[in-house]
Amino acid sequence: HTAELTHTVEDFESAFWPDEQPVDNAVVMTMGALHEGHAALIRAARKQVGRDGRVAVTVFVNPLQFGAGEDLDRYPRSLEADVKLAAEAGADVVFAPSGEEVYPNGEPLVRLAAGPMGERFEGASRPGHFDGVLTVVAKLLHITDPDFAFFGEKDAQQLAIVRRMVADLDFDVEIVGVPTVREEDGLALSSRNHYLSEQERGQALALSRALFAGRDAGARGAQAVREAASAALDAAEGVDLDYLALIDPDAFTEAPDDFRGEAVLAVAARVGSTRLIDNVRIIVR
Ligand code: PAJ
Repeated sequence: HTAELTHTVEDFESAFWPDEQPVDNAVVMTMGALHEGHAALIRAARKQVGRDGRVAVTVFVNPLQFGAGEDLDRYPRSLEADVKLAAEAGADVVFAPSGEEVYPNGEPLVRLAAGPMGERFEGASRPGHFDGVLTVVAKLLHITDPDFAFFGEKDAQQLAIVRRMVADLDFDVEIVGVPTVREEDGLALSSRNHYLSEQERGQALALSRALFAGRDAGARGAQAVREAASAALDAAEGVDLDYLALIDPDAFTEAPDDFRGEAVLAVAARVGSTRLIDNVRIIVR
């Protein structure tokens, strides 16, 4: 399988829409530095649309969603390897536009606002982040016009907010969530793992370990989940905790102590200078 690499909206459109035949198509949006987590999304997209369907992968490091002092300038870039990985996972087209192609008028004056869902958890630490995400996701949905768009559960708040945008603003697309892909030792795959030294990578395991400990306490209620995960993080070295939260997955609000049902247990922490996030779905009884 090979994928055609395109850089302009015009070339993308003629590659992705070669003729008028109505086949299902799907988009996987990424910022590049592709890994097996992204590959899982692309494979899920291919499975969804079938052999005759079309799968596009977008690669764009969106400046709007990075805050001052974040890693925009050093975000890992590897387009050639990305095209290869995308093709092997089943993509037909890779769309890797320049900043000018996406924002021809410079910084957009009109943007989407994620609202209160975008101000908690990740949003509290990264003001404006989800507004930037939604603005580029909306633009890329308009450019690619897919039947399906695939997002990872790894970024659970992003997935919840994108779903909410699609529902609130009547986007004609089905959003599909894909489970988090992990290393064998539990570390969630992330492009930002490239920043970790060997020692930090070991320390970063505390995040998934804490989440699994919390998940195992699910049968004993919400407080037990929080305590089990917290204890694991307290014992960890080199981990500077930002938040640990048990979250009602639809509204993306903190779950009350008497919460029962499916929840998301999420963590964000700095290991060295690298900010990592992770989460697991759990059943609270
Ligand atoms: P990026 O961090 O490159 O992630 C692209 C997609 O891959 C997201 O939907 C993310 O949740 C998913 N993903 C990342 N790591 C994963 C893992 N270990 N398992 C499963 N899925 C994983 O998220 C973004 O880019 C951007 O915010 C974007 C949506 C492209 C908008 O700019």
